Amino acid sequence: MLVVRKIKEIITLVAEEKLKGKKIGFVPTMGALHPGHISLIEISRKQTDFTICSIFVNPTQFNNASDLTHYPRTPEKDIELLKSASCDLLYMPDVNDVYPEKDVREFDFGYLDTILEAAHRPGHFNGVAQVVSILLKNIQPDLAFFGSKDYQQVMIVKSLVKQLNLNTEIVACPILREADGLAMSSRNMRLTGEERKIAAQIPKWMQEAVLIIKNEGVDAAKRFVLQKVDQVPEMKLDYYEVCEAETLMPLKHLSPGKNAVSLIAVFVGKIRLIDNWMIN
Ligand code: PAF
Repeated sequence: MLVVRKIKEIITLVAEEKLKGKKIGFVPTMGALHPGHISLIEISRKQTDFTICSIFVNPTQFNNASDLTHYPRTPEKDIELLKSASCDLLYMPDVNDVYPEKDVREFDFGYLDTILEAAHRPGHFNGVAQVVSILLKNIQPDLAFFGSKDYQQVMIVKSLVKQLNLNTEIVACPILREADGLAMSSRNMRLTGEERKIAAQIPKWMQEAVLIIKNEGVDAAKRFVLQKVDQVPEMKLDYYEVCEAETLMPLKHLSPGKNAVSLIAVFVGKIRLIDNWMIN
């Protein structure tokens, strides 16, 4: 696996691979890799001929300085994991390579940038759009793979690609879960042993809430989740919403033939975790 630090090197290498007729897959990450990330590499390897991964903790998407400082960084382990997964190329830049100048671009995602994660982390998706647009414009992959745990992010990135007329297809990949159901996340590494046990309740409540949505409606499910979270002193609910899966418009009731998704953000101690559950 080649490891490059400069975007200019990637541009040349990708051009060479494309000349050989190869289809390019790209998996952007912020490192601290876990099996969820590796599953994206595996999907890319199945669907393309040359897989590029990036590891860059993007400062512009953090609206909380302490979250950025404490974001887990495990570069040596990440490189080993990517080698074992047969990733072809790793781009691991420093901030100046991605942002030679301050990025002052403001993106407009309309309604999508007013709800859920956007409402609770102002500026977050603008930062995601800045870095993803830089990566996609330079790397020009045929396909780019994103985990569905960040459900709203996938929708934002699809909208970004449309707005910028980029030639990359965005592929949303399934959430990978630990044996106890907790969605895999780099942030799980920051939980204490006790917090990790507590966090395992999140997917269980979300599943129970699906039944409540079907039998009693969305408001009853919201009350259920809030009550469960409130019973645990280490937890604090940021939001729990049930939305139309295609648009993320909030729902009061399920409509036949339309998919819905429930989405949660919850603090366990100081760590903010997100998850979502599809409701068919
Ligand atoms: O999902 C992430 O890890 C990040 O938001 C991404 C897409 C790599 C952009 O920094």
